[in-house]
Amino acid sequence: MNDYLEKNRDRFLAELLDLLRIPSVSADSKFKPDVRRAAEFVRDSLEKAGADVAELHETDGHPIIYGEKIADPAKPTVLVYGHYDVQPADPYELWNSPPFEPVIRDEKIWARGSADDKGQFYMHVKAFEAMVATDSLPCNVKFMIEGEEEIGSPNLGIFVRENREKLAADVVLISDTAMIANDVPSLDTGLRGLSYLEVEVVAANRDLHSGVYGGAVANPINVLARLIASLHDENGHVTIPGFYDDVLDLSADERHLINQAPFDLEAYKKDLGIDEVEGERGYTTLERTGTRPTLDCNGIWGGYTGEGAKTVLPSKASAKISMRLVPNQSSDQITELFTNHFLSIAPKSVKVKVTPHHGGEPYLTPLDSPAYKAAEAAMAESFGKQPIPTRGGGSIPIVALFEKELGLKTVLMGFGLDSDSLHSPNEHYGLFNFFKGIETSPLFFKHFAEAAEK
Ligand code: BES
Ligand code: MN
Ligand code: MN
Repeated sequence: MNDYLEKNRDRFLAELLDLLRIPSVSADSKFKPDVRRAAEFVRDSLEKAGADVAELHETDGHPIIYGEKIADPAKPTVLVYGHYDVQPADPYELWNSPPFEPVIRDEKIWARGSADDKGQFYMHVKAFEAMVATDSLPCNVKFMIEGEEEIGSPNLGIFVRENREKLAADVVLISDTAMIANDVPSLDTGLRGLSYLEVEVVAANRDLHSGVYGGAVANPINVLARLIASLHDENGHVTIPGFYDDVLDLSADERHLINQAPFDLEAYKKDLGIDEVEGERGYTTLERTGTRPTLDCNGIWGGYTGEGAKTVLPSKASAKISMRLVPNQSSDQITELFTNHFLSIAPKSVKVKVTPHHGGEPYLTPLDSPAYKAAEAAMAESFGKQPIPTRGGGSIPIVALFEKELGLKTVLMGFGLDSDSLHSPNEHYGLFNFFKGIETSPLFFKHFAEAAEK
């Protein structure tokens, strides 16, 4: 096995670079043909790697790729999930090299999607190839690689519900998260949920002269800014009534465990170029990102933003707002609480509209499950160090759905780093991380199959 990996290193990397050259941006319809090309690339790569089934499934949006190899129906089955779509690369001018022309610099692969998630799911495709080629596949494998994760997986839920039999497995394996550092392996044991919505504040029926009407008619930008500011109190708590009602408080032991993870606040601030962190009072940075719900404005617009000045009272202003959720908050319920609250605090001088976008539920991996233990053993073997359990702050909404619809737990064995600049300019993924992932994946299969035999 290790021989095979060693001999094929350069080809594995060259193939990943080919995949990274395809600008599979799911959010922008301009890239629709490219998203499809990436889907076909993934299907073909599964076929070449030795899958007996490698299918492209059409959806109302972008295709879903499904592949499988059933070594022995009596053996356990691992369902590998990943996504071949990527975030938009704008603003292009902030990239040091073009986002869809991958380059290797400083032992890293620089390209949009290198870490999120092409570089990470492709590790499993290559590990699978190696296991097939060396006749050492210890259990059955299924792959489901989608093209709409970055837009909230609007069609994957339908596919999962319609293909329960096909997707039957014993565990879901995902590499789409980060670890603490290359010499501090870790496993995410939780993901936050999400409620994403848009608000619009409208005052007068047209833009007005700010001298003639200013001071007498509501300015929607002023009102929107006031409303958004009121959503947090002076302690950084969210003020929406009922927002925290379903939040599971952590035990002192759990809090202790989370804060055990090595974390250097000074280095964190320095990396981000900030003098101080900010967040909910009474919680550490790791607790704030891993275990607490948040509310953030992601975009805000309205009025005149062109060159020079224009004295105007705009007719409307809007904002995009997201809330990260933790167990046991429900995305639908939080969206409803937000909507009711936002409408109730709006002054009579404006009309307010709230439009929900996508959402997703939070997730926790049980630390005592055979699958989590197999991931632990696999990383311990490949890194020579026991991985530390951590809580990631991001969301992969489909994970909660796997549990609900397929009854499957998920193991989050990510090999990225928080500093990989996911969703930002200059996204990158370490060569070390890519090859370490390829080396670790077969070890997971081995340990998981062994646990099932006991
Ligand atoms: N891979 C990320 C999620 C992630 C990143 C989890 C880092 C943990 C650590 C995923 O592709 C993502 O970006 N998810 C979105 C949600 C989606 C509905 C757009 C997110 O978290 O914003
Ligand atoms: Mn991802
Ligand atoms: Mn992402």
